[in-house]
Amino acid sequence: MDKKYVIAIDGPAASGKSTTAKLLARKLQFIFIDSGAMYRACALFALENNVNLEDISSLSDLIERIEISIEYSESGNRIYLNGKNVTERIREADITKLSSEIAVIGIVRKKMVELQREIGRSGGVIMDGRDIGTVVFPNADFKFFMIASVKARAQRRWLEAKEKGEDLSLNEIEDELVWRDRNDSTRLLSPLKKATDAIEIDTTNKTITEQVDMLLQIIKEKS
Ligand code: CDP
Repeated sequence: MDKKYVIAIDGPAASGKSTTAKLLARKLQFIFIDSGAMYRACALFALENNVNLEDISSLSDLIERIEISIEYSESGNRIYLNGKNVTERIREADITKLSSEIAVIGIVRKKMVELQREIGRSGGVIMDGRDIGTVVFPNADFKFFMIASVKARAQRRWLEAKEKGEDLSLNEIEDELVWRDRNDSTRLLSPLKKATDAIEIDTTNKTITEQVDMLLQIIKEKS
């Protein structure tokens, strides 16, 4: 794709955003940024430094020192936190919960949004998250909002966990998703919300290929 579009994909946890964004980026030869990985890296940094999320002064010092970099690769992006590869660690359950807790804090969001805008400045980027179409890139060329039933989303995360050798029950996963969706959509700052001009895609009964093709077709039609 010659045009250097900015494509925003938002939606609740496990709705298919990252998988779709990654494959779409490969097809369009765009950069893919998983903004959730950045909040996860913040959460890990706070945990490693024993910073209590209510201690805004310590958190502010911490955020000043945080360096997040993303290395793009065909097999998937690698996330570095102050030089350390944390790609796998940030997907663990303790960080998943903490990322949603740290994401409500204004100074954290401010720093992450700055970084995200900087990465997307020259276009040719697909970014997925919760507030990409509403706050980070309100003028994005394309905005998608992905949804899926909670049952389908829990099933996907259960399969992913199983493949990694983690033994989690479907109920546990469903409870975590429901808790996180509520926390993400009821917060005051940049809540999870569909932008008024976003195209909604329900992935409940779609395969990954169908999802990617659907977005690709919409992009090509409007190009
Ligand atoms: O991949 P998954 O859907 O499980 O979550 P994620 O995209 O890695 O995001 C982890 C958490 O970061 C979310 O639950 C949100 O609280 C937060 N987040 C956010 O606030 N804004 C974003 N743009 C992306 C993620």
